[in-house]
Amino acid sequence: MDSRGEKDFEKFSKIAVKFYDYITRGTLIKRQNEEIAQFLISKITTGNLLDVGTGPGRLFIEISKLKSDIELYGLDISNSMIEQAQKNLKNKKVNLRVGNIEKTEYEDNFFDIITATGNLFLWDHPQECLEEIRRILKFNGSTYLFETYNDYDEHEYKIALKSTLKKESIPRRILIPYFLNNQLDFTYKKSEIEKIINQTSFKNSYNIDKIKLSGLPIWLKIELKKTNHN
Ligand SMILES: C[S@@+](CC[C@H](N)C(=O)[O-])C[C@H]1O[C@@H](n2cnc3c(N)ncnc32)[C@H](O)[C@@H]1O
Repeated sequence: MDSRGEKDFEKFSKIAVKFYDYITRGTLIKRQNEEIAQFLISKITTGNLLDVGTGPGRLFIEISKLKSDIELYGLDISNSMIEQAQKNLKNKKVNLRVGNIEKTEYEDNFFDIITATGNLFLWDHPQECLEEIRRILKFNGSTYLFETYNDYDEHEYKIALKSTLKKESIPRRILIPYFLNNQLDFTYKKSEIEKIINQTSFKNSYNIDKIKLSGLPIWLKIELKKTNHN
């Protein structure tokens, strides 16, 4: 295998990005981002926040609706994604940058909080990416990764998906399950994610919870804490 996915995203065409942007405009992804935004704002209300693999920037739209003085930063490996995010966020103050999280130009200890949704499973060198995240995170800061996982409860998922999709437009009712199921086939098992983290400096300071986003029981919330000891 050439790449787990990041290289495909790096070459994403403008048309593919438009298509991705269309899917993320639906109620399912909006609710997902609202829930993540509310969670992040419950953790910090000032300081620097980085969204890794920000895609079309939908998380920032939801964060901007909540009252906070947070400085927002978004990174994505795809130039076309960042162009789309710039369009979607044109009236908002967000620092967007094209780049791979494996090696960035952010300063050491710069971010109070780092987040990423649906990202780790695409990284070709996840341990290196996590070490880079640790470098740019402040001491006592946390990273929250929201990742789908492969050994979820299929029965529970199917029932929840049916109900969540009722609020979607007809095209998205077809497209979302197609893309989501492909993603779920390809994501790591929870134990594989633990194995990756155990090979990094976060090995003694992480926590993984099974959660629902947008009603779907397919998500892990992975907290990685940077302490003076790791
Ligand atoms: C599945 S999409 C998720 C987008 C967004 N977080 C969301 O929830 O809608 C994954 C995004 O991560 C980006 N990405 C993948 N690997 C990356 C890497 N190594 N560094 C930075 N961005 C990456 C892709 O270009 C893509 O925009």
